[in-house]
Amino acid sequence: MRIVSGIQPTGNLHLGNYLGAIRNWVRMQDELVSPKGPNGGGDCLFFLADLHAISMPHDPATLSANTREMVAALVACGIDPDRSTLFNQTQVPAHAELQWLLCGTARMGWLNRMTQFKDKSGKNREGASIALFTYPVLQAADVLLYQATHVPVGEDQKQHLELARDIAQKFNNDFGGGKDIFTQPDPIIPPEAARIMSLRDGGAKMSKSDPSDMSRINLTDDADTIMQKVKKAKTDPEPLPDEAAGLEGRAEAANLVGIYAALAGTSVAAVLGDFAGKGFGVFKPALGELLVEKLAPINARFVELRQDRGALDAILRKGAEKARTLAAPTLAAAYDALGLVRG
Ligand code: TYM
Repeated sequence: MRIVSGIQPTGNLHLGNYLGAIRNWVRMQDELVSPKGPNGGGDCLFFLADLHAISMPHDPATLSANTREMVAALVACGIDPDRSTLFNQTQVPAHAELQWLLCGTARMGWLNRMTQFKDKSGKNREGASIALFTYPVLQAADVLLYQATHVPVGEDQKQHLELARDIAQKFNNDFGGGKDIFTQPDPIIPPEAARIMSLRDGGAKMSKSDPSDMSRINLTDDADTIMQKVKKAKTDPEPLPDEAAGLEGRAEAANLVGIYAALAGTSVAAVLGDFAGKGFGVFKPALGELLVEKLAPINARFVELRQDRGALDAILRKGAEKARTLAAPTLAAAYDALGLVRG
């Protein structure tokens, strides 16, 4: 098994990233990569998608700072740079090279269907960057470059992964000469917490780009901030139902119960078993306390790790060196398959 996944270093890691993706990364690393042998049952590559981050208007100094902060945050969450390969795209030029090679295979019609481009460009399609449009091709390159077999992501990345599979299949058919140049990756989407919603609007996903900080729990929030955000979270006046079906049409309530279940490592049904008939005056403080209990140790590690810029840069350098080695054969095979003469 080869696990590959990425995160954009834009702003803080939030609860959606953690429950939807990062927690699974850590789980897969802990299950797969033996501490004794070099990558016992498989290997894990996790990267900061800094090249993706320039597809939207950005401030260069903030991007550099966020890249290092994101390394600290991932290590604080449990990613172990000795067991997983942790790096940023920029230090592995093969990502950008393969993207260009795949641009000959990806079709305009496929990219036109990508909902993220529609969401992020909004009414200003003509003013959106080309990078935002071709973003999913870079994402395909990110995983195909390493022959990824599994890609742990939240629900919102499913469409991009389907595109990566389509690109791999067409490239193999058109240029493989009977061989598979690329492996078709399977998305791993958690059954619970695949889509954590905003605390202010149960119809919008929790996101780094939401202008309201009250809409999300950041992994860097202190205990008081977490309790405040949960207290102010939008809800409805009804008590909690005794089974999951009773949460239908109650997006905000369903979101909070889902967060509780994911954090407690239990099911929505079990949470409702404990809180049926109780109002949010009881449920919210319990959820706030659970969040503080689970996030405080991560926060404490993060605060310590982020101080040491030298150590964070060293992690990225070491990870990139490994990633460059792993990427080289597939990149070479793609150039050769296309008939490009490298000398
Ligand atoms: P990004 O940076 O937006 O998010 C990182 C991961 O967090 C998940 N996620 C969520 N899960 C549940 N609920 C939410 N509200 C929520 N918000 C974010 C995302 O699904 C993702 O798994 N394009 C990607 C980064 C990327 C990538 C890749 C991922 C670039 N190349 C290759 C996988 C493989 C992105 O912007 O994720």
